[in-house]
Amino acid sequence: MTDQRFVHAQWSSRLAFILAASGSAIGLGNIWKFPYLTGENGGGAFVLVYLLCVAAIGVPIMMAETLLGRRGRQSPINTMLSLAETAKASRLWQYTGWMGVLSSFLILSYYSVIAGWAMAYILKMNSPMFAQISPETALRFFDEFRTDPQIQVIWHSLFMIATIAIVSRGVSAGLEKGTRYLMPALLVMLIVLVGYAIGSEGFGQGVAFLFLPDFSKLSGESVLTAMGQAFFSLGLGMGSIMVYGSYLPRHVSIARSTILVAAADTAVALLAGLAIFPIVFSNHLEPGMGPGLIFQTLPIAFGAMPGGAFFGSLFFVLVFFAALTSSIALIEPTVAWLTENRGLSRGAASAWSGLVCWGLGLGSLLSFSSWSEVTFFGKNLFELLDFLTADIMLPAGGLLVAVFAGWVLNRKDTEEELEMAEPRSYEAWRFLVRYAAPTGMGIIFLKALGGI
Ligand code: PHE
Repeated sequence: MTDQRFVHAQWSSRLAFILAASGSAIGLGNIWKFPYLTGENGGGAFVLVYLLCVAAIGVPIMMAETLLGRRGRQSPINTMLSLAETAKASRLWQYTGWMGVLSSFLILSYYSVIAGWAMAYILKMNSPMFAQISPETALRFFDEFRTDPQIQVIWHSLFMIATIAIVSRGVSAGLEKGTRYLMPALLVMLIVLVGYAIGSEGFGQGVAFLFLPDFSKLSGESVLTAMGQAFFSLGLGMGSIMVYGSYLPRHVSIARSTILVAAADTAVALLAGLAIFPIVFSNHLEPGMGPGLIFQTLPIAFGAMPGGAFFGSLFFVLVFFAALTSSIALIEPTVAWLTENRGLSRGAASAWSGLVCWGLGLGSLLSFSSWSEVTFFGKNLFELLDFLTADIMLPAGGLLVAVFAGWVLNRKDTEEELEMAEPRSYEAWRFLVRYAAPTGMGIIFLKALGGI
């Protein structure tokens, strides 16, 4: 079915795929973005909508995206094209792949800026001023950092260089091994932080904020943000999971692997929330502080702990690695396309894509300081890019994937690819991608536009 020239390498095992896919899923989206969005959007009701979106829209679409990748076995653009041709459908489907490449570019540009913040905090946590730091000092410290573009450019550049260095070597064995230890280590660190949070006076309030829904706080835009966050956090709708699926050996169960990845991703996000909100309430801070939330709150917890400088640095090292495994997934669709279609070497493809993303990232970087007043529709450049990619382009890409897998591909192909033991599970998946997910997404889009 596919042109054999394009057949990629394959993962060594199911575990390798699960690790890579969770590496792509678990990142800044869970630790940095989920808590601050939850804080800005009023807590429990937002979390509930987010969880529903993960389960009813995210998981079935993740299965669909993975199966398209394994069926096509090429970069997302070529996969969509060749699958559309085989199904005698329009060649326009390849633009799903193109949109994915564009979203991944735009996301990586600001992702690298925030990952640079995490890198900077690895060193900062060792500064003596963090011992027993007061909430006011933690806030002021972050503000000084946020408004100093020069320092941020250095970290943004270093992060991009690290991404290019790894991606240019291919889906590196070292990284595969690294992820195996670093992801569990991150989980342990988060559990330690939650342990600290349990002992704090704001724990009850933090848990209530996260899990008690107050629907009066939920606007149409919050619902859209929750859905966008589900896509962003799972790493869906832009082709990375499709690329990873294309490396997946035939015998591996797509359903079981993707459910596991989605569960791990959700667990990490909830743990991050459970670690952060008790600190927010114990110190009488504002949950809706915005993108600086983890940088303003976690140092307070580390500062109060014995060995806090060490654990604080270690935590940000782990966040840095989590961001790195996601940034690799973000750049991979472009690199795969440049090597397949433009004949570039992996090194050149990675360097060029990285450079373009780096340049774009400068705009977001400045929107935290000198360009903060430059706004479009009330959003600064970072907020605008984030809104366009996470809330619009990723769900739109996911919707196209669902429609393609549910309506364009024939039933036999998807059934064969998913190979589910239980016929009822296959029917449930098919119902979700054909009807439930597209309808749910349509309603959310309309609601956000104020249509209903
Ligand atoms: N899922 C990643 C995170 O949560 C970000 C990402 C988005 C990765 C889209 C790949 C694709 O940080």
